[in-house]
Amino acid sequence: MENQAYRGHVFALPYPSQGHINPLLQFCNRLVSKGLKASLATTLYIHNTMQPQSSSSLQFDTISDGYDEGGFAQAESIHAYLNRMETIGSKTLADLIIKNKNTANPIDCIIYDPFLPRALEVAKKFGIFGAAFFTQTCAVNFIYYHVHHGLLKLPIASTPISIPGLPVLELEDMPSYISVPGSYPAYFEMVLNQFSSSDKADAVLTNTFYELDPEADSMSKVCRLLPIGPTIPSFYLDKRLENDNDYGLSLFVSDSSVCNNWLNTKPEGSVIYASFGSMACLTNKQMEELAFALKGCKFHFLWVVKASEEAKLPEKFVEEIGNKGLVVQWCSQLEVLSNKAIGCFLTHCGWNSILEALSLGVPTMGVPQWTNQTTNAKYVQDVWKVGVRAKVCENGIVEREEIEFCIKEVMKGERGKDFLEKAKKWRDLAIKAGSEGGSSDKNIDEFVSKFKTPNL
Ligand code: UDX
Repeated sequence: MENQAYRGHVFALPYPSQGHINPLLQFCNRLVSKGLKASLATTLYIHNTMQPQSSSSLQFDTISDGYDEGGFAQAESIHAYLNRMETIGSKTLADLIIKNKNTANPIDCIIYDPFLPRALEVAKKFGIFGAAFFTQTCAVNFIYYHVHHGLLKLPIASTPISIPGLPVLELEDMPSYISVPGSYPAYFEMVLNQFSSSDKADAVLTNTFYELDPEADSMSKVCRLLPIGPTIPSFYLDKRLENDNDYGLSLFVSDSSVCNNWLNTKPEGSVIYASFGSMACLTNKQMEELAFALKGCKFHFLWVVKASEEAKLPEKFVEEIGNKGLVVQWCSQLEVLSNKAIGCFLTHCGWNSILEALSLGVPTMGVPQWTNQTTNAKYVQDVWKVGVRAKVCENGIVEREEIEFCIKEVMKGERGKDFLEKAKKWRDLAIKAGSEGGSSDKNIDEFVSKFKTPNL
């Protein structure tokens, strides 16, 4: 599509967490590169505590979640947070639309996270186009869709579970809200509620690409779903667009030069990158098993241990590992994954992490914790075949021997070579999907064309 300036102004509203802000922010940058104006609103608390990682072509706005001083941590419960976010968030969103109304760039479209379904009501009230932006895979969304519409009855009465278009699933492959009945009821209600609004949305976008997600076809028939991913800037994918490396707003502080300098001294494919994303909270025992396995294996490792998790590391761990490993509180994950030194991503299987690994051709070892991660891990091992999923013991822990075994499987031998080959195949397909004329690029063009009023 010709990169012409259009009057269209899209306004993006992510759910306020790292794994939801990153893909929507990246997608907005993509829309800007297609000629639209894009704004992204975070909560006031997030806005005040974070900085964009680099200068951005986006406009940043704020809404209130009702917890302006402390964000989520200030809320009495998940339920209370979600309720307040919906009521106060909707009101402040409406205020922003009104504020923009008589400017040169009134808002033409709200792209909202379906975790925040009331945003669509606000868009409708003002006669604005409303697009839902799903941050998880088609497979996971399809499972929730089946539950929401009563097509899959809970609790699961028998296994394996058959859902059209999906591989045969065992209970452990289902999202944790289903496999562990009663866990996080407020979140479960939220993921199911996504469909009460998205069924009425003017467009439904999802951060995946057609070739990757075998369900995209059936999902798009049922839910009009348009895969537009991976949203990862092309800078990281194939280093072609030099100034397109703005990929997120970070909730955590990182110093990329520390990781880069260290990784640059390591041979190609020799380092395990271990990270459990922005939300997971591991037990002391699990941290200990990971620490022993990483220290005991024959490979270098870079481990992201968030500040809130540091106290769980064994005593003197950092001193004892010497130059074998590097422990940091946060990193620029795309930079790390695109470093040639990385040979394996030991991950919690958050969707962004998996999509980033697949798009950058990095084999993975999955230690899923909760929510959609279990289903993603199933796909990593059995559908995309880019790695293994570690076995969990009856006590809920993945033990050190199992971690060491899985690391060897991915880093060494015939299976390791196979995983790398497959990962490279997905990387090539990801690049193709996002390049001009690729499946996601065409879908983005189709979306952009709805707001194609030339800026006269
Ligand atoms: C959560 C869920 O776990 C995930 O499955 C869901 O799809 C979104 O919400 P999170 O646990 O944070 O997200 O994991 P993930 O989806 O992997 O997102 C983490 C993001 O933070 C990624 O974009 C990753 O690149 C970034 N990150 C992570 C960093 O930049 N640095 C780090 O050190 C770790």
